[in-house]
Amino acid sequence: MALEEPLLAPRPSSERSSIRYAEEEDALLTGERTPRRESRRGWGFWREVGAFAWAIIATIIVIVLAVVYQHESAKGHHDSRNNWGPGGKPTGKRNLIFMVSDGMGPTSLSMTRSFRQHTEGLPIDDTLILDQHHIGTSRTRSSNSLVTDSAAGATAFSCGFKSYNEAISVLPDHSPCGTVLEAASLAGYKTGLVVTTRLTDATPACFVAHANLRRYEDSIAEQEAGEHPLGRVVDLMMGGGRCHFLPNTTDGSCRGDDRDLVEVASKNGFNYLQDRAGFDSLKGGSEAKLPLLGLFAGGDIPYEVDRRSQNDKYPSLEEMTRTALTTLSEATRDSEQGFFIMIEGSRIDHAGHGNDPVAQVHEVIAYDRAFAAVLEFLEKDSTPGVVVSTSDHETGGLSAARQLHKSYPEYLWLPGELGKAKHSSEYAYAKLKEYISGAGKDDHESKQRAYIRKTLLEEDLGITDATDDEVEILLHPDPQVSSDHVFADMLSRRAQIGWSTHGHSAVDVNIYASSSQDAWPLMGNHENIEIGHFLADYLDLDVAAVTKRLQSSSYWTASGEEAVDQEKYSWLGDPLGSKVRTEGLDTYHGDFRKRSIDECGCGGLH
Ligand SMILES: *[C@@H]1O[C@H](CO)[C@@H](O)[C@H](O)[C@H]1NC(C)=O
Ligand SMILES: [Zn+2]
Ligand SMILES: [Zn+2]
Repeated sequence: MALEEPLLAPRPSSERSSIRYAEEEDALLTGERTPRRESRRGWGFWREVGAFAWAIIATIIVIVLAVVYQHESAKGHHDSRNNWGPGGKPTGKRNLIFMVSDGMGPTSLSMTRSFRQHTEGLPIDDTLILDQHHIGTSRTRSSNSLVTDSAAGATAFSCGFKSYNEAISVLPDHSPCGTVLEAASLAGYKTGLVVTTRLTDATPACFVAHANLRRYEDSIAEQEAGEHPLGRVVDLMMGGGRCHFLPNTTDGSCRGDDRDLVEVASKNGFNYLQDRAGFDSLKGGSEAKLPLLGLFAGGDIPYEVDRRSQNDKYPSLEEMTRTALTTLSEATRDSEQGFFIMIEGSRIDHAGHGNDPVAQVHEVIAYDRAFAAVLEFLEKDSTPGVVVSTSDHETGGLSAARQLHKSYPEYLWLPGELGKAKHSSEYAYAKLKEYISGAGKDDHESKQRAYIRKTLLEEDLGITDATDDEVEILLHPDPQVSSDHVFADMLSRRAQIGWSTHGHSAVDVNIYASSSQDAWPLMGNHENIEIGHFLADYLDLDVAAVTKRLQSSSYWTASGEEAVDQEKYSWLGDPLGSKVRTEGLDTYHGDFRKRSIDECGCGGLH
């Protein structure tokens, strides 16, 4: 049978029998004497044995050398990647800049790159600055879903743990986890947050606050203002979200109570800035004094595509970034420790939720500019540092192609159509609402149609071929479909850009860094919590000690008093009991048939 054939090829024949040869080989390998006939051996025999022994020894030497060489070269390779000091830890004074492009997936980059090449007449090898610093990818699932939200995503970065969607730096058992920013602050670093959304929104919140649910933004504002078990932990905050800091007796408040958090922040030392003039008074950071709280919008700062024509009202992400870096650099000039800052391109995510490709390409370009500003800072600043940039997840299931008809699709998408728009769908929708309830309220419908067609579609969005049906649905909207989604879909279809959801998706997202030598642990494909581990490791922080402190600290109330009669973690807010599944994945229960827009109740979450 074939299986019983010898596995090794037969040896070349010699003048001696192969049986004796095999016995001798055994003896050489085992050291045992070969039972052999007592007979005289000739010179030729011993010469052969010697040659054979030498061949074996030589083979062993070659193998040993090869193994040693491989080991050494692997070690050498590792060393060249690991730029960190002895003991595998970074040494010396250093700064860490962590950037989050909320909701930016790989397709956001492709779409924006092509959009920019097309609209600015650049060559096909012209890339974004980010493209030139790509070092890896991140897997984004949370503890209770393959599709994370921003809260669980940012908790992975801030605490280095997986938690459930909606968790603001609390673990699946609803206990608080220490964050890299808190640990940095306790270790003597200056700390900062720069965002384009509300400062109480999930991503910034996860670095400085703890809450069982992201919607407890009033409590998050309190913690940011310094009502925190560890006291004030953040030195610089810039972004939107003023409404959660103003008492509900004030215009522009969205708080549920009449507490004045601006006053609380001021009492805790914050210098408060509330508008563009306040921002400009910082003179790029040279006039800034820490701690600093800059709330430059009631809610979110407008999308870049809309902000650029209101530059006198709102600073850009790049401006805030440059000012914050200068401020923190100056503030740490003579200290032993540098700074940690989290900078977020927050609204890339919102453009994804809105399925608005125009808003998104401008958000990504604005983020790329901020990233370039950080690189420039790192190059010029005398303190070494690193910037790591990643996303918490992708939003929208964006696709740079779209089948519009039943017939087989064309292979293309049309960036020029996005270039015609001057504003976002959000902007056009706000203008439509204002017109319909204000100036145009009593207009004849034909005049209202003309306003929609001329002003909103042609002038603002660059759509010159709207059908009567499209105009009609904007004038008499389907109650289940918000009109900003109609505007966004009109833009997307014309550019042949596809979206699979108004929510998030599970695709891996990119990791970027100023230098793969400094950020070597993040090269390749990683779980998102490893990014959190990197942040703590780079600054050599003991985040676990902060967790211990938060979990064992006396029962804590908003005013900082001990409250022995309260439940231990009541300051984290109601976990909403059994409604929140914090671990394990949901399973199929026929949702595709029964789920309607009314049942979902998930519209407001990002
Ligand atoms: C304002 O806050 C107070 C408590 O601080 C509360 O009783 C009241 O209902 C709030 N009003 C609104 C409109 O939210
Ligand atoms: Zn997000
Ligand atoms: Zn989102």
